[in-house]
Amino acid sequence: MARRKKIYEGKAKILYEGPEPGTLVQYFKDDATAFNAKKKDVIDGKGVLNNRLCEYFMTGLNNIGVPTHFIRRLNMREQLVRACEIVPLEVIVRNFAAGSLSERLGIEEGTQLPRPIIEYCYKDDALGDPLVTEEHIAAFGWASAQDMDDILSLALRVNDFLAGVMYGVGIKLIDFKIEIGRIYEGDFQRLVVADEISPDSCRLWDIESGRKLDKDVFRRDLGNLSDAYSEVAHRLGVLPRAQVTKPKLIN
Ligand SMILES: Nc1ncnc2c1ncn2[C@@H]1O[C@H](COP(=O)(O)OP(=O)(O)O)[C@@H](O)[C@H]1O
Ligand SMILES: [Mg+2]
Repeated sequence: MARRKKIYEGKAKILYEGPEPGTLVQYFKDDATAFNAKKKDVIDGKGVLNNRLCEYFMTGLNNIGVPTHFIRRLNMREQLVRACEIVPLEVIVRNFAAGSLSERLGIEEGTQLPRPIIEYCYKDDALGDPLVTEEHIAAFGWASAQDMDDILSLALRVNDFLAGVMYGVGIKLIDFKIEIGRIYEGDFQRLVVADEISPDSCRLWDIESGRKLDKDVFRRDLGNLSDAYSEVAHRLGVLPRAQVTKPKLIN
């Protein structure tokens, strides 16, 4: 059997050459990393959950007209996506204060922000993905002014979609991160939502209890990460709840 070509192996996923030109296979690993990979572990089943949840969000976005790289899920751990040139930015959208924003500005976690705040980080592991401004982005040519307009509008549409979907299942969308890809079609380029949307890249709090259902469970040692991700998947109807069957007494 021919070995398929590995294009890139990152912290959470592997990209393989896809079956047709312009496609890639995105494989979700069980590896969890935090604090720029200073904290690492393998969480059984995380890749399967993220693949399913990512499929759910990307399909929803495609269906409401927000373009993404997602084509279809292939199996438990893999999805077929369109190959993109990734804009070297992490686009963060925040609805409530948490994480680095709370630290930088001294705002208590969970405080509602006056409006969604968009932040950009330069994607560079060696530098720890530093926060940058639109001045840096323009000066270094990472994205044009037109791209930045499109990226802002994509990010806000994803925010409204995700916040609504989550609210429907009793979860508050605190913040999330997306990556944007360029797809060339003849003389034109289009920007699409790429990479992943999953509890690895969002902060999700249960509305009633405040329980965290995202990667902070791993970052802050708050319990079992796959239990938290399974809870999100069950609520969204992405995975059926396990049938708790008691052993049958046969007499
Ligand atoms: N459609 C795509 N085309 C090309 N590259 C992509 C696409 N979607 C995601 N990527 C890139 O693939 C990598 C996914 O692997 P991941 O484990 O998240 O890597 P990292 O450790 O760099 O975050 C990321 O670098 C991401 O930018
Ligand atoms: Mg990544």
